[in-house]
Amino acid sequence: MRKLIWAAASIAALTGALALTGPASAQSPIIIKFSHVVATDTPKGKAAEKFKELAEKYTGGKVKVEVYPNSTLYKDKEELEALQLGSVQMLAPSNSKFGPLGIREFEVFDLPYILPDLKTLRKVTEGPLGIKLLKLLDTKGITGLAYWDNGFKQMSANKKLVAPADYQGVKFRIQSSRVLQAQFKALGSLPQVMAFSEVYQALQTGVVDGQENTWSNIYTQKMHEVQKYITETNHGYIGYVVIVNKKFWDDLPGDIRDQLAKAMKEATDFNNAQSQKENDDALAEIKKSGKSEIIKLTPEQDAAMRKAMEPVYKDAASRVGQPLIDEFQKEAKSATN
Ligand code: LMR
Repeated sequence: MRKLIWAAASIAALTGALALTGPASAQSPIIIKFSHVVATDTPKGKAAEKFKELAEKYTGGKVKVEVYPNSTLYKDKEELEALQLGSVQMLAPSNSKFGPLGIREFEVFDLPYILPDLKTLRKVTEGPLGIKLLKLLDTKGITGLAYWDNGFKQMSANKKLVAPADYQGVKFRIQSSRVLQAQFKALGSLPQVMAFSEVYQALQTGVVDGQENTWSNIYTQKMHEVQKYITETNHGYIGYVVIVNKKFWDDLPGDIRDQLAKAMKEATDFNNAQSQKENDDALAEIKKSGKSEIIKLTPEQDAAMRKAMEPVYKDAASRVGQPLIDEFQKEAKSATN
């Protein structure tokens, strides 16, 4: 009996102690839910894991980053709404996905052939224009932290896409960008906005005939298994803006925010150093699989594609603004000189 009383008293004391230092105390880590739509084995997927590793290390475990890849938490449009509501703290949507928020300016990155290479891109995003674009997000309760590359897009379909005329009447899945819509309209195709997570099935069942994406996305989504041809066009670019819920970010203790900013800077350098290789490796794997025929364009065919897409610039002026297009082209030009 005495033993029992002693045991009960010990449990009570232990529970009391736990209540004082329990999970609700200052010891609980700050959780960052980082949601994204691509596979882990992609430039963005790997950089998200790198950020997690560095953020947890630099904050000494005071921050825990939970990465949710493959649209496991949210699809394209939903994830932006979730960030604004604070249900998720961090995302890295592509430049093409900010339109539904009322911000069309990032679609300037979607203009066909606007960037000759990734080096030029970096000069633009790290320059005054890149910073100005990030600031636009503030009014939407979002803080822009960094730009992460993926790479250049290729065209895929179940028919050979060589000349502009081949695109006539072909149904293409696009991201939610008016510039991308104008691009496919200029080619006489039928663009259809669709979430990334739905593309494979839509291609497989014939809901759409084709799509445009980077080699790493095509390979990790197995799109090459349901597309007979991929044309190496490198006509457009996919890159990301890493964003956080502004209130969450502003409310962080200053030292933690600095440590996270350091982790983000290093994860960004890591991403931008490996994205090209990820895409090269994915292309090699697609070739090895033999499932899709890869079409290379001659310089004349490439020139015809560029010419066919020229009207997109005029069309985009009313969507993203001519001054912005001029500024982008000027910065891109000075970067290549
Ligand atoms: C797409 O929707 O095609 C891409 O933006 C997916 C991604 O995040 O790379």
